[in-house]
Amino acid sequence: MLVKVIAILTLFLNLSQTTIDNYVAQTNLGGYLYLVNQTYQLGEDYIPGDLQQPAAAGNSSGTLMRKQAADHLDALFASAKEAGYTLIAVSGYRSFATQRNIYSRKLSSGAKNAKLYVAPPGASEHQLGLAMDLGRKGKTKLNAAFGSSDEGAWVAENAHRFGFIIRYKDGWQDITGYAPEPWHVRYVSQEHAQHIFELDIPLEQYVEQLSLASFGEYFMEEP
Ligand code: DAL
Ligand code: ZN
Repeated sequence: MLVKVIAILTLFLNLSQTTIDNYVAQTNLGGYLYLVNQTYQLGEDYIPGDLQQPAAAGNSSGTLMRKQAADHLDALFASAKEAGYTLIAVSGYRSFATQRNIYSRKLSSGAKNAKLYVAPPGASEHQLGLAMDLGRKGKTKLNAAFGSSDEGAWVAENAHRFGFIIRYKDGWQDITGYAPEPWHVRYVSQEHAQHIFELDIPLEQYVEQLSLASFGEYFMEEP
């Protein structure tokens, strides 16, 4: 535990060399580290200004992403292909209204623990245009099988090289608010994805630590 605390402090001491302005730009709405969850929600009118269709998504609907995320998704898919895996873009940007429809459909379907799998409108990072749900050849249903597939294992080990994190991992439900979703990748940029991969912590904790480091306040819990 102590080793992990020291590693986190060292990392964030390095990161804190970046300016406060840079930190604010990255964590503000429009920045790639912007945190969306059930606590920090988006307004109905938020629509990213630079949405585009990733080439790797072909012309399938509902797969827009912000430009930088789309370009990196293309690189991720190309690298997966070289490794022998075909990934499929299933669901990308979703407007507030689309999320509201998905949410009410899921809740009225009677699905067990529905609220652990779908965010209420405003609380989905799909609205940021920085998330993509992934499928694999012939399998576009979003379920736990993706995580235990070869494609899912490859994504878990390689997504960070392209700026993506696995946003909802096993054991993080109390922090993220959602059950594990090995198919949901979130773009945060390569630098941050690399750190988050190494630290193996949810985005909530990473942003909190980065915030403390950036503002020079280290609060350690009482032993
Ligand atoms: N499935 C994730 C939590 C979402 O709806 O954004
Ligand atoms: Zn998703």
